[in-house]
Amino acid sequence: MARILKNYPEVALNPADLDGRIDFANLFGRSSSVHIEIGCGRGSFLIGQAQAEPNVNFIGIEWASRYYRYSLDRIGRWGLSNVKLIRTDAAKFITDFIAAHSVDCFHIYFPDPWPKRHHHKRRFFNPANAEQLLRCLKPNGVIQLATDHANYFEQMQRVIAGFGERLEEIEFVCAAAAENGEKVGTNFERKYIKDKRGVHAIAVKNSTVKF
Ligand SMILES: C[S@@+](CC[C@H](N)C(=O)[O-])C[C@H]1O[C@@H](n2cnc3c(N)ncnc32)[C@H](O)[C@@H]1O
Repeated sequence: MARILKNYPEVALNPADLDGRIDFANLFGRSSSVHIEIGCGRGSFLIGQAQAEPNVNFIGIEWASRYYRYSLDRIGRWGLSNVKLIRTDAAKFITDFIAAHSVDCFHIYFPDPWPKRHHHKRRFFNPANAEQLLRCLKPNGVIQLATDHANYFEQMQRVIAGFGERLEEIEFVCAAAAENGEKVGTNFERKYIKDKRGVHAIAVKNSTVKF
């Protein structure tokens, strides 16, 4: 029997209610670190990490309505007051609503690989979107990336290299809910590991000292 998904207005962030750059302290009712997950799928990373780091404020962005509704129901059931979820396009949301130097970490796990060459331009981690992420990061703020797709991983490395000294590679930190051999423990990672596909991960920090 299909699970009945509930709506949790205290978790959901409605794009129509947004008006200019988000004030995170106001949104969460406290000043704290801000982590944003792009393409959170079924919400597994957010649920594990938000429980492990109750002092961090998390925002999950998900475009697909069915994944968004599923995640919203899960996060609401867990009663996680440090997570907000929005159903929107991450590129537009970040450009329009995230203030400069306001984010501690972006998490991008198993983004859609768009394997056909003529679709590569649709990949999220491209120079324009990476420039936006960098604009939003605090000094020493981090971008964590993981993919099973070797060609997309090469693109990620190329995009990062294009930023020269503005981005510095650092050690990837595995998620709190990751189990043996996993980096993040999301649904897609578990499926890919079962299919014996390798997982590539990289983390970089904003090493721009002057703004
Ligand atoms: C392959 S799934 C990975 C989901 C999850 N991160 C995981 O590891 O299980 C990629 C997700 O990114 C979402 N997505 C793709 N483009 C997006 C965009 N521009 N903004 C927000 N979400 C997006 C998709 O709907 C999908 O749920």
